[in-house]
Amino acid sequence: MALWGGRFTQAADGRFKQFNDSLRFDYRLAEQDIIGSVAWSKALVTVSVLTQDEQQQLEVALNTLLEEVRANPQQILQSDAEDIHSWVEGRLIEKVGALGKKLHTGRSRNDQVATDLKLWCKEQVLLLLSAVRELQRALVDTAEANQDAVMPGYTHLQRAQPVTFAHWCLAYVEMLARDESRLKDTLKRLDVSPLGSGALAGTAYEIDREQLAEWLGFASATRNSLDSVSDRDHALELLSDAAIGMVHLSRFAEDLIFFNTGEANFVELSDRVTSGSSLMPQKKNPDALELIRGKCGRVQGALTGMMMTLKGLPLAYNKDMQEDKEGLFDALDTWLDCLHMSVLVLDGIQVKRPRCQEAAEQGYANATELADYLVAKGIPFREAHHIVGEAVVAAIGQGVALEALTLAQLQQFSPQIEQDVYPILSLQSCLDKRNAKGGVAPQQVASAIAEAKARLSDR
Ligand code: ARG
Repeated sequence: MALWGGRFTQAADGRFKQFNDSLRFDYRLAEQDIIGSVAWSKALVTVSVLTQDEQQQLEVALNTLLEEVRANPQQILQSDAEDIHSWVEGRLIEKVGALGKKLHTGRSRNDQVATDLKLWCKEQVLLLLSAVRELQRALVDTAEANQDAVMPGYTHLQRAQPVTFAHWCLAYVEMLARDESRLKDTLKRLDVSPLGSGALAGTAYEIDREQLAEWLGFASATRNSLDSVSDRDHALELLSDAAIGMVHLSRFAEDLIFFNTGEANFVELSDRVTSGSSLMPQKKNPDALELIRGKCGRVQGALTGMMMTLKGLPLAYNKDMQEDKEGLFDALDTWLDCLHMSVLVLDGIQVKRPRCQEAAEQGYANATELADYLVAKGIPFREAHHIVGEAVVAAIGQGVALEALTLAQLQQFSPQIEQDVYPILSLQSCLDKRNAKGGVAPQQVASAIAEAKARLSDR
């Protein structure tokens, strides 16, 4: 059923119809469209367009339709309706006859689609929030199990100072906590109902839009009808949230891909999230992680695409805005999938402690400690830095660690170095000393784990 045939004498070209129709993707808004329609029918009673009895009939039919849609959303795709709004209205008219034709009084697809999309976004935010929290919990659990797994920390992908696998996990917990807070923030601004804004200038029926908003579970109603039907900030914000969240997941994936290389060999990934090569029998590829890293691209693309679609659009609604859906749907689906997949990856990960420890012991990760030791003996840091640099060159020349140099050898670089230097050079001492807030000292890591657990405890 086309909603607008009256003014036209020629049928739409089949190719234009294909091009113009949005049902193949906006069918995902079916539930929201029906729920919005029930609320609108209630509003129409308050302005005497519908009687109580008529509204009841519509509501019953709409609820039946809702059940049908929930049972089998794919059935919608069999129809040649233009979009989900026409589909719902058409099905309603099939069910209740002429009465169904009253529902669209005072409403436009412009305020309708804006409302549907916001209702959908609100649901997605909740799903995403719970997935972001689930991944944080998985990271905290992994941290807890690996507090004593010492490994090299990197800057410039050069071994820099020792950290623990737990500390690495907690870094990602922080990123995800910010993702969580961004989503909550997005939700606050998005929670405003456009319904009752009409096509652009407001509805001609004196509907209590605040009450209507409340029926739909929105915090309030929008203030300006022109803005209401043309605002897609919530799509932009959610896409930005997704784009940043995916950057985090992509970095997480890249770190683990590196830890999993034959060269680093710090972790073993589960068979459940890796796959083999069709040619090389020895291989076990980190496909889940590579896909997480790779899918980051399409999400950035969706954000940029939406920005460009909205840029320079005149007020109010334009058909360009129909382009808001596919990228948003895909980006949020992708983010959600990648969050779930990251949990799965952590679930089966094995940290190879001896190998991590060995790597942390190599690479002169304790050079800073030696410099700090000299500082404690009264040598200015810049000078101490230089002395240690020379000691490192000598150790590299002999192919040994700093702590493997004899005291006599060390004293050639500075007579201030004494026997008490050796404990200072141990990995454990490197960790223990970083005991200011946020540092890698076991005590700090333990309290960070406890704090994160408390924050994430309510399920
Ligand atoms: N399918 C349209 C969309 O997604 C619905 C709104 C159509 N409004 C209009 N005036 N043609 O944006």
